[in-house]
Amino acid sequence: MRFVITNTYDEMSKEAARFVAEAVKAKPDIVLGLPTGSTPIGMYKELIRLHKEEGLDFSQVTTFNLDEYRGLSSDHDQSYRYFMEDTFFKHVNIKPENINFLVGTAKDPEAECQRYEEAIEKVGGIDLMILGIGVNAHIGFNEPAKELPANSYVVQLAEETIEANSRFFERKEDVPKEALTMGVGSILRSRRIILLANGSSKKDAIYGTTNGIVTTEVPGSLLQLHQDVVLFLDKEAAVKVSK
Ligand code: PGA
Repeated sequence: MRFVITNTYDEMSKEAARFVAEAVKAKPDIVLGLPTGSTPIGMYKELIRLHKEEGLDFSQVTTFNLDEYRGLSSDHDQSYRYFMEDTFFKHVNIKPENINFLVGTAKDPEAECQRYEEAIEKVGGIDLMILGIGVNAHIGFNEPAKELPANSYVVQLAEETIEANSRFFERKEDVPKEALTMGVGSILRSRRIILLANGSSKKDAIYGTTNGIVTTEVPGSLLQLHQDVVLFLDKEAAVKVSK
């Protein structure tokens, strides 16, 4: 694992955006894996700036988002599809047909997960996966568990995830209890992976992700099995990092 540790969230976001921009320039038809959450918002903002001011071109880029709440349609304002449209897609020149998402309202969610795996395979796999991490070290919606499915699947959200995400919903009861997510195998098959984390609430998750022990109880730790991972951390998330 490699580390880019910065003083502020803003610097972390810019460093990560620069890394992604370089990857897009090196391979204009790159396939990206994309996260939602509050962490990557600064990175998306900087990518939008690079597009508008420096001509960073997304016209050949293909994207696969990591996860989606089960039962929320793409126009629900808390769906991840809606978040991505609002935060990033509508501000750059990504072609709608190149945007891929797990469909939260699919009648047969297992078949939907299978379709997603096949779609990733069909484009030749993900070149660069961009991740956030939960306070419980989940990546995508792979929650801590005794065992984890390798490929995309329907997951029951952990209580702490429902709690953490309830800030975006009117009532905690409104937070979906299930999601469709890429599996850890889907993530690890990506050629390169970067992970962003900021703030002291993520310090234990980052410690568990970097401390040399691999366990599905700390899903981020499985990234230690990959040979090309870069962590972009602000200094608060990095306090317990073991390199
Ligand atoms: P956050 O979520 O960026 O809003 O902290 C990250 C995650 O849960 O993966």
